[in-house]
Amino acid sequence: MEPILDLIRKKRDGQALSREEIQRLANGAADGSIPDYQISAWLMACYFQGMDSNETDALTEAMLHSGRVLDLSSLPGPAVDKHSTGGVGDKTSLVVAPLAAANGVYVPMVSGRGLGHTGGTLDKLAAIPGFRTDLTPERMLKLLKAAGACMAGQSAEIAPADRKLYALRDATATVESKSLIAASIMSKKLAEGVQGLVLDVKTGAGAFMRDRGDAVDLARIMARIGASFGVRTAALVTDMDECLGWAAGNALEVVECIEILRGAARPQSIRLERLCLELAARMLMAAGVEERLGEALARCEESLESGAVLEVFRRMVRLQGGDEAVLDHADRLPQAAMVETQEAQADGWIAACDALLVGRACCALGAGRERMDSPVDPAVGVSLLKKRGDAVRFGEPWVRIHANGETGLAQARELLQQALVVQQGKPEDHPLILAEEWS
Ligand code: URA
Repeated sequence: MEPILDLIRKKRDGQALSREEIQRLANGAADGSIPDYQISAWLMACYFQGMDSNETDALTEAMLHSGRVLDLSSLPGPAVDKHSTGGVGDKTSLVVAPLAAANGVYVPMVSGRGLGHTGGTLDKLAAIPGFRTDLTPERMLKLLKAAGACMAGQSAEIAPADRKLYALRDATATVESKSLIAASIMSKKLAEGVQGLVLDVKTGAGAFMRDRGDAVDLARIMARIGASFGVRTAALVTDMDECLGWAAGNALEVVECIEILRGAARPQSIRLERLCLELAARMLMAAGVEERLGEALARCEESLESGAVLEVFRRMVRLQGGDEAVLDHADRLPQAAMVETQEAQADGWIAACDALLVGRACCALGAGRERMDSPVDPAVGVSLLKKRGDAVRFGEPWVRIHANGETGLAQARELLQQALVVQQGKPEDHPLILAEEWS
């Protein structure tokens, strides 16, 4: 067998590694038999030299099979998940999972915690008193059979090699390699044992892929990996220049989702609601439940209007130990001690409301975490009274800040002031879906 040093050299000099060589490296990273400095050097070589599609597939496969793969074969219908690369106010999972489940698709959703300015689905769910996301694969299967959807945290048993490699990438400035990102995301999603996958690749100010071209490349790579593993995959590239919906902050985002599920969405939620419908419709298509987008969308819209989706969400909350009364009484969710408004400083139209700055304002208030082990405050955040494209008058409130004490309040005020761009004349509409790749 070639020494590891030769594999690093080979990659460093621009040659592709074989499937077996990549397997050796990924397994050696996971079981600790290859030292971190050698794995880090290989990752850096991948970062600079790129990886071809065979190498990317081989890495995905090695990480996928480094842990448990869910066996969903006993479900009576197709299972499909949705994954977002993350953004500010991106709460689609809470609506999309019951939406797809109400239409005959099983949704075993495995999500992560938020880091930095992007929120995480697990943190939003943790705002619902009692809601448990520490589910074993066996429990997930039971919940899927009973409710059609379940929402779990990432278990240490799923793709442990990715956990190790991700930690090394984080420490060696090699996260930003599209092949490494694609293999990382896809290994965890494929480990859910789904037949279809819908990916929402965010791009814009509040996304981790700011550049649209990079986001399209990532979407293409992930859709191709899906196909290689026999999983029908749709990868959408969607706008994350502004906060999605009116709420950013965990409990506030749950409130916004409940409003949508109850058919009482605010005007500021229109784009969010549209995205949820578009994603869920593609889940039906990826599952083979619907063939055409128009029909899939109509079916999703009808189920939302009929209250069927709300009932799936209610069942899921109840079965996962959550207080289902929050669906009827949003004031049972954690509330911030103080709420203050900020006023616009000019007349005109809102041309931009920078999602990154809104996300950083939320973090300053305590809604997000800078380190994986820091706690978050579920009650704090911001609610936007105005969105891009809305008219605004001088002195008119445009945002509410929900704070607990003075923590980060001054900083949040300043960030929000910087986030708002008011111009004369109505700005052009921004498309929501910027690109779409299917495998
Ligand atoms: N999210 C992941 O799961 N992996 C990456 O590499 C980047 C984002």
